[in-house]
Amino acid sequence: MSNLQIDGDRLWRSLMDMAKIGATAKGGSRRLAASDEDRMGRDLFVAWCKAAGLGVTVDRIGNIFARRPGRDPTLPPVVTGSHLDTQPTGGRFDGVYGVLAGLEVIRTLNDSGLVTDAPIEVAVWTNEEGARFAPAMVASGAFAGVFDVDTVLEAKDVDGRTLGAELARIGYAGDQAVGGRPLLATFEAHIEQGPILEAEKKTIGVVTGVQGIRWYDVRLDGMEAHAGPTPMTMRKDAMVAAARMIAAADASAKRHAPHGRATCKVVEVRPQGSRNTIAGHVAMTVDMRHPDATALEALDADLRAAGHQVTAELGVAVAIEAIWTSPPVAFDAACVAAVREATERLGYTHQTMVSGAGHDSCYIARVAPTAMIFVPCEKGISHNEIENAKKEDLAAGCNVLLHAMLARANAAAS
Ligand code: GLV
Ligand code: MN
Ligand code: MN
Repeated sequence: MSNLQIDGDRLWRSLMDMAKIGATAKGGSRRLAASDEDRMGRDLFVAWCKAAGLGVTVDRIGNIFARRPGRDPTLPPVVTGSHLDTQPTGGRFDGVYGVLAGLEVIRTLNDSGLVTDAPIEVAVWTNEEGARFAPAMVASGAFAGVFDVDTVLEAKDVDGRTLGAELARIGYAGDQAVGGRPLLATFEAHIEQGPILEAEKKTIGVVTGVQGIRWYDVRLDGMEAHAGPTPMTMRKDAMVAAARMIAAADASAKRHAPHGRATCKVVEVRPQGSRNTIAGHVAMTVDMRHPDATALEALDADLRAAGHQVTAELGVAVAIEAIWTSPPVAFDAACVAAVREATERLGYTHQTMVSGAGHDSCYIARVAPTAMIFVPCEKGISHNEIENAKKEDLAAGCNVLLHAMLARANAAAS
């Protein structure tokens, strides 16, 4: 058992087959949550699971669980998984690697005929990205009891379609209750999505936690006026106010270097389509992050102070609504140790690290002992069609996943 190895070529082939669903011109994937492409990706995964002899269930929020029975049916499962939804211009590995690494673990166990004490499950969490339906990680959050299921299902995309209706449309509004059952332990394999492992020439990231994330909806209300006759001193230009707030958020994150992050995006300027009318209204999103909760509060305070300043100086009203906070997460010490021990036993180089990206494991960690495994990605680039990772690194992460899961699944009965 200690020599058991996954099949890196098979894992790579599965990744490339999945990447064909929603394939983009620049080599990435676009499978927005609960879209037709998401349905096709889910269907392919479920077909692979059935071929591997797994029992597949779907809960009310579209989370898929594929189960391989263990020797002891009274034990809760050891779970792995991630997400199949992508960013609008997403890559081939973010999320899908964690799902297909889980499937490769199962296929490897099937090939070897090995039966674990505890059942093994592969999970696909719905709408991890939060790109089509905000916020992110909602379905793992609902599983963990952080979000109300019905509220999450009412989340709307830009066209007013709800997550619940879209899941029903694609055939993934399941009948199982969301959460409320024990998990023995969970592990999630993922590409790092940052530059550390590549720079440090390490194969495995032993992930001890995830930094805090806060999402905001910001509204700036000034006044529409003519671009020509209106003197600069008489304007309430919502666009200028937004630009100052964007610069302030950027400066705040840089003052909190090296860990502070601020990203302003999804900017809507009203009135649309006129270049000679001063912007009366701007709506924009802000994403702020820091591994330390106190520092995240300081970033929040800076954003609000910038709002007060533009109101005072430009006469533009600013409303800042924090729509989502995912606090910093510390993973379970024993699961982290299982990842480190598997890594060392397999002879891979490794680095202990905190995740910069959010993951479903953030919420699952609240209801089950959890840890994550990172592998390098090229130049640290993710949320981009050119996202790339090496076959051998992906295989290494999957081998670590296999052995960390086996250690937990077989320790349970003793
Ligand atoms: C998930 O992709 C995140 O926003 O970190
Ligand atoms: Mn991801
Ligand atoms: Mn992502």
